[in-house]
Amino acid sequence: MEQLADDHDLLSLPKEKWCGDDLVYQFNGFWFTLPCLKAALHLLNNFNPLPTDVILASFPKTGTTWLKSLLFAITNRTSKDSLISTHPHDLIPTLELQVYSPNPTAAGILTSSNGNTRIFSTHVPYQLLSKSAIHSSECRIVYVTRNPKDTLISLWHYMAKSKMSHMRPWTIEEAVDKFCHGTVAYGPYYDHVLQFQKQSLERPHKVFFVSYEELKDDTKNQVKKLAEFLSCPFDNEEEADEIVKICDIQTLKQHEVNKSSDLPKWLGLPYNSYFRQGEVGDHKNYFNSQIIQRIDDMTRDKFHSAGFMFGI
Ligand code: A3P
Repeated sequence: MEQLADDHDLLSLPKEKWCGDDLVYQFNGFWFTLPCLKAALHLLNNFNPLPTDVILASFPKTGTTWLKSLLFAITNRTSKDSLISTHPHDLIPTLELQVYSPNPTAAGILTSSNGNTRIFSTHVPYQLLSKSAIHSSECRIVYVTRNPKDTLISLWHYMAKSKMSHMRPWTIEEAVDKFCHGTVAYGPYYDHVLQFQKQSLERPHKVFFVSYEELKDDTKNQVKKLAEFLSCPFDNEEEADEIVKICDIQTLKQHEVNKSSDLPKWLGLPYNSYFRQGEVGDHKNYFNSQIIQRIDDMTRDKFHSAGFMFGI
């Protein structure tokens, strides 16, 4: 693992423009915005999860918000109505944005002792989770992934929302180029996914791996598997049905807190930017056949050649 002493070392890392003129810095093979890299290093050195903790890991735009809702509802059955009044990202904090960031808004979760299962989320790649999270703690990891073309188009929409009107727009062609080169925040997408997929095969009791498409296809069955993985299976079918319903995108979209254009304290994007179409295959409305071919070739090269038959 590369070692960095101070901010000067960070600024001397390889850097690239990704979205508009925003920069990402390369550390241990992955690309980060500077604030996220600083927070990720803090996390790497200091995060000591409890054996009962659950870490939701994902590449951005692969279904994190959905999984936050599901994990919260599954593990807090008596207070699942909190999903009506509180945004999923405020129920489950993101380690590098809300807990280990320079001005953390949810650091209190580290010392809370209310007896509830602590759930954190992160986009940090597997190798940069702390040693304790990977090796010594018996904490569990849930990883969600999504096909690369829908992930990218979702990211493109999301970044468009984050841009001020005076900033240079991010064209689809540029976004595809950056995604294929891996130079997007937390990229390369393919390496991110493969690290967790490999761990889920080697340590299925530690890492639960699910795709957005599997969840869409048979939500209830996947939710039941998730509850079993978390050692809190459902007592009856109705319980599972209810959780599927309250975490459905159409249900969540109706709550004022999720419709809100307010900015959370921890990010410059509005709360409503986390809920858009929520469909499989939306990329077909944006990508031409050459772009589809380019990403599919990449997917065959990265995923299929590694034995992971996913993404096309
Ligand atoms: P789209 O942009 O394709 O609509 P993340 O939560 O990782 O940022 O991912 C955001 C994507 O998940 C968006 O996809 C968003 O609409 C979708 N999403 C959010 N909540 C969802 C839910 N409850 N069910 C299904 N998809 C959801």
